[in-house]
Amino acid sequence: MSSLEKADKLRALREKAFAGGGEKRIEKQHAQGKMTARERIDLLLDHDSFEEFDMLVTHRSTAFGLDKKIIPGDGVVTGYGTIDGRQVYVFSHDFTVFGGSLSETFAEKILKIMDMAAMNGAPLIGLNDSGGARIQEGIESLAGYGKIFLKNVLYSGVIPQISAILGPCAGGAVYSPAITDFTIMVKDISYMFVTGPSVVKTVTGEDVTKDQLGGPLIHSKRSGVCSIACEDEEEALLLIRKLISYVPQNNMEDPIRMICTDPVDRQEMWLDEYIPANPNKPYEMRVLIEAVTDNGEFFEIQRMFAPNIIIGFARMNGHSVGVIANQPSYLAGVLDNDASIKAARFVRFCDAFNIPILTFVDVPGFMPGTAQEYGGIIRNGAKLLFAYAEATVPKITVITRKAYGGAYDVMSSKHIGADINYAWPTAEIAVMGPDGAVEIIFHHDIKAADDPVQRKKELIDQYRDKFANPYDAASRGYIDDVIMPSNTRFRLIKALEMLAGKRQTLPPKKHGNIPL
Ligand code: HXC
Repeated sequence: MSSLEKADKLRALREKAFAGGGEKRIEKQHAQGKMTARERIDLLLDHDSFEEFDMLVTHRSTAFGLDKKIIPGDGVVTGYGTIDGRQVYVFSHDFTVFGGSLSETFAEKILKIMDMAAMNGAPLIGLNDSGGARIQEGIESLAGYGKIFLKNVLYSGVIPQISAILGPCAGGAVYSPAITDFTIMVKDISYMFVTGPSVVKTVTGEDVTKDQLGGPLIHSKRSGVCSIACEDEEEALLLIRKLISYVPQNNMEDPIRMICTDPVDRQEMWLDEYIPANPNKPYEMRVLIEAVTDNGEFFEIQRMFAPNIIIGFARMNGHSVGVIANQPSYLAGVLDNDASIKAARFVRFCDAFNIPILTFVDVPGFMPGTAQEYGGIIRNGAKLLFAYAEATVPKITVITRKAYGGAYDVMSSKHIGADINYAWPTAEIAVMGPDGAVEIIFHHDIKAADDPVQRKKELIDQYRDKFANPYDAASRGYIDDVIMPSNTRFRLIKALEMLAGKRQTLPPKKHGNIPL
């Protein structure tokens, strides 16, 4: 064979790999509003930056006639490239090849780039579109998944791992994303379930659609599996690019600093009047967050899940920060099971990747009642407390209004290790709200009064005067300063700069035992 013929052979093999499952299946993919594996990579990465590995890998299976169906690449495209010039590793399932299902060799391709990502300290991005374990391969595909799960776990907290769900993902194809840090889904094309509607019908008799079982809305609102739901694939891929900009390459680095054009000392005078005089009146916490962050930008995560707490990334003077805030306009910002779990996981992500944490507090307490108790509010609330207490990154807290009871302690108080605790003049820091407190400690007094309603009102006023302010806490140094709301941006940036060199180590141990 001449050199030219040898080159032609390579060209033909590459063409076969590029053709994936063939024209018809690619057309079907497009007709469903889905891109192919390679189209997705092109959109995700900087132009022409992708370098592919293992395009010529083929499966080794002979069962069920698979030896006659061999496609170079075997259903997954893997390699590395850049996002805004920073290296990332990517795998992208090709649904046109055996439904993107995972074989032994498919798994080996993914494991190779997972190891490379960890060894070279760069994020791993998985574009998932897969029917799960390749049924014809039996145990080999299960073994492949097991090995991927193991690496997902071992590299958790070492490199950021991001998953996009861009098709009907089942079985192992959902457990790997579940271990990663963020999972992005797309309306009308993404589904996540351990098994699809037909098996559900057989096992439980339940009639459900793919959307009802595992669509983006369900996983955004109910299960919390989805970090961000997007309108289309393009939005999802651009969003991953943005998300990457907030995180470092690995746990040994800090996030990159962006140029900040927003004045550090920008004052927002209207913030001084933003908190309603009536403590029961809600307000929008997002507006407050956006008033202090660089250019009013806030990259929110899990917006629809437990809306009583807000989590996301922002920048302060160009530095990436993680923001956690109670949302008074939803359930008064109470801490319930879902809110505690949502915030706890985010605190741990920020801590693992050297991202300082800003906490804005307006919390009436933990949600009481049987539904919450039976759901494990003690265990789940403890997760948030544990996560904050264990985090060694700079932690700054601002109490804007209510900080009551255990929720005061848990929401990054000085007592569980926050570095700087500020309060606005509108802060109310006490064991519980005035109404509940007066009912408990003065019920004899109220009962004996000539006018119980009037007496109760007087006692509530007294309690409010004594506790519904930040000064008792400030007099003990639990609040480092009571700050003017208008000047919050400046004070936070100064505090973050002061804490930039923070070094804290935990007592030596294998690991703590977070109440999972
Ligand atoms: C082999 C598969 C496959 C699989 C799909 N295909 N899933 N091949 N193994 N797991 C093939 C189909 O045969 C078909 O081939 C092509 O991919 C497209 O599939 P369709 O069914 O035509 O597509 P669609 O109607 O869009 O349905 C997609 C789907 C469905 C919802 C994913 O295929 C499905 O339910 N698959 C099985 C899902 C599942 O239960 N997986 C769990 C495996 S167990 P042709 O030749 O027609 O194009 C598992 C355990 C791991 O993963 C361990 C976890 C802890």
